Amino acid sequence: MINRVRSWWRQEDKQQPLEGSFDNVPEHVAIIMDGNGRWAKSRGLPRIVGHQNGMKAVKRTTIAADELGIKFLTLYAFSTENWKRPKDEVDFLMRLPQEFLAIELEELIQKNVQVRMMGNKEELPKHTLAAMEEAMRRTEHNDGLVLNFALNYGSRKEMTDCVQNLAKQVEEGIITSADITSELIDKHLLSGGIPDPDLLIRTSGEMRLSNFMLWQIAYSEMWFTDIYWPEFNKNHLYEAVAEYQRRTRRYGGLTSS
Ligand code: IPE
Ligand code: IPE
Ligand code: MG
Repeated sequence: MINRVRSWWRQEDKQQPLEGSFDNVPEHVAIIMDGNGRWAKSRGLPRIVGHQNGMKAVKRTTIAADELGIKFLTLYAFSTENWKRPKDEVDFLMRLPQEFLAIELEELIQKNVQVRMMGNKEELPKHTLAAMEEAMRRTEHNDGLVLNFALNYGSRKEMTDCVQNLAKQVEEGIITSADITSELIDKHLLSGGIPDPDLLIRTSGEMRLSNFMLWQIAYSEMWFTDIYWPEFNKNHLYEAVAEYQRRTRRYGGLTSS
């Protein structure tokens, strides 16, 4: 089903970002990988072929992110709303992690990538969760690129769970309401321990967030492209990073110059 590629970190492919600079590379890039279905439809193919080709883009993007020196790459793979899709499509999507990891895990381990998952584990099929957990366990001591899969992730669910958790701690006298700070909330979100995204990318021309990291992207730079996710490649990532490098982040303050 998926073409096996022997070695996927090909150094000879190394390329400078468009501006020619590895300075000021975003530490955390988050991507809303959208457009798999439309990519397939435009070729007269079933939607699942789009998802399969989307997986190749995941691989390309992971390699490119690592080469660029990005430290965290968060990929929105399945939202808490995606369960609304036809069962066949959901079943297919839930098989993709194990398919991807069966091929790539050894290489990810060798390349010092740490796999993480951000999302609600309870509703995932056992086989999906088992594949993710094996990947997380076997890469937990790696300290290279963090490849964070947002799988069964929804920002509102994440925030609701966080509020319930903190309310319970107040009820039980573990903390007081005054202890609830922005930093404490950060720690109780599924992204706890991962810095906020510096750069958010969405493919396929949609200009919305679709319940993705609503708290964490408060000051992220955003980059949208009409490219469908299965077509996304290293040049697109470099283009987004180069654009990021041209921007001035002010966080509500003023530019010092
Ligand atoms: C993104 O592609 C993948 C998931 C949401 C799982 P879509 O499946 O949303 O593709 P479009 O948006 O229908 O083209
Ligand atoms: C967002 O894409 C979710 C993922 C990329 C996993 P959707 O295709 O589900 O978003 P909407 O429905 O167009 O907002
Ligand atoms: Mg979509």
